[in-house]
Amino acid sequence: MAKNILIKNGRVIDPANKIDRKCDVLILDGKIAEVGKVESKADLTLDAAGKLVLPGLIDIHVHFREPGDEEEETIASGSAAAVAGGFTSVVCMPNTDPPIDDATSVEYIHRMGRQARKTHVYVMGAITKDRAGEQLSEMGFMIQAGAVGFTDDGSGVQNVAVMLRAMKYASMFKNIVISQHCQDNSLAGNGVMNSGYNSTVLGLPGIDPLAEEMMLWRDIQLVRKTNMPYHVQHVSTAKSVKLIRQAKSDCLPITCEAAPHHLLLTDEACCDYDTNYKVNPPLRTAKDIEAIKQAIKDGIIDALASDHAPHLKSEKELEFLTAPFGIASLECALGLYIKALIEPKIIDWPQFVSIMSERPAKIIGVDKGTLSKDKQADITIIDPDFEYTVDVNKFRSKSKNCPYDGWKLKGKVEYTIVGGEIRYSAREV
Ligand code: DOR
Ligand code: ZN
Repeated sequence: MAKNILIKNGRVIDPANKIDRKCDVLILDGKIAEVGKVESKADLTLDAAGKLVLPGLIDIHVHFREPGDEEEETIASGSAAAVAGGFTSVVCMPNTDPPIDDATSVEYIHRMGRQARKTHVYVMGAITKDRAGEQLSEMGFMIQAGAVGFTDDGSGVQNVAVMLRAMKYASMFKNIVISQHCQDNSLAGNGVMNSGYNSTVLGLPGIDPLAEEMMLWRDIQLVRKTNMPYHVQHVSTAKSVKLIRQAKSDCLPITCEAAPHHLLLTDEACCDYDTNYKVNPPLRTAKDIEAIKQAIKDGIIDALASDHAPHLKSEKELEFLTAPFGIASLECALGLYIKALIEPKIIDWPQFVSIMSERPAKIIGVDKGTLSKDKQADITIIDPDFEYTVDVNKFRSKSKNCPYDGWKLKGKVEYTIVGGEIRYSAREV
């Protein structure tokens, strides 16, 4: 394996260091040694002319199904999908079976991630034991084991007193975030898609946007009280965006993420009862998409996150009412973001890199997201103009529940370099 790698003549974009220019990057012993005009030789030289050389992309919201549902995804298959998608770090959600709610489980995920030897695998532990929303999990032990934050993702913590206790307790620890899938179950009920005109036409029970907004509003009051860093997962409604804007302007420690499907698809997509469009929070309306995109432009959205949620074909083949929620998108997320944000010129490349690497790293409190000297060499090299057709059968992910099959997207991952090692190369495919 090459110890030293020289990446020549790429467009290097490193917003943390205000770099956006054509130059070289030298990796020595797994670390960034130099960014600039590099004359020295290396064991391996990669020609990056016409390519973008970026700090490794970070996806802070993925569902790998280990333990419990390994037929849908393992940490090994999910990690392979991650590097093929350009991601040098991912954060696993704890809604496995059993849930990740103790230190042993956190250690297990880390160990399997290291063994997979693809992407860095981080973990958010469950806020409550068994994700049941009642008793706090052993957060301190999970932090010792390396958990970067907590969430009951898949559902929100319904009980206000439990959530307040979780935030108070977690605020004793440094560098930890509490993340929430905002959804009030009493309002969401048995809904399976956005509630509105389309759910009425289809005769399907809807999830009112208020289900998300009520819990978000409630949690903002708890942040006000505790000052605990709080992250809003997969923001899906215009009103949520408004609430976050206000909270940020009040200087509360709030961050948020947007998922590709909430930038590209509306609830109209459910019209054929195709369960590949069944996702939670549900696909909303064009107005919601517009508000989320505007918030990305304004810097209100801190991170783009795939919410990669693999499911078995046999389960997605159930009728819309009973099929599970979720979209598998890790391997095409980059192209989807480019389509939603770069192609229509909503943001430029440095802004894009900032919300795909620098700011996500800050949310989970890891020393990543830049190409500063001596940092671990996590680098993604992409060809921004290369057009390809999404083919789910080529996914490394074990699951194919992806509504983007057949879509034409731009932005091909050329190399994914993790800790100075090439863990994915388009050339070997
Ligand atoms: O669509 C979703 N799928 N939303 C969630 O919150 C959970 C996820 C899953 O785990 O499948
Ligand atoms: Zn969620």
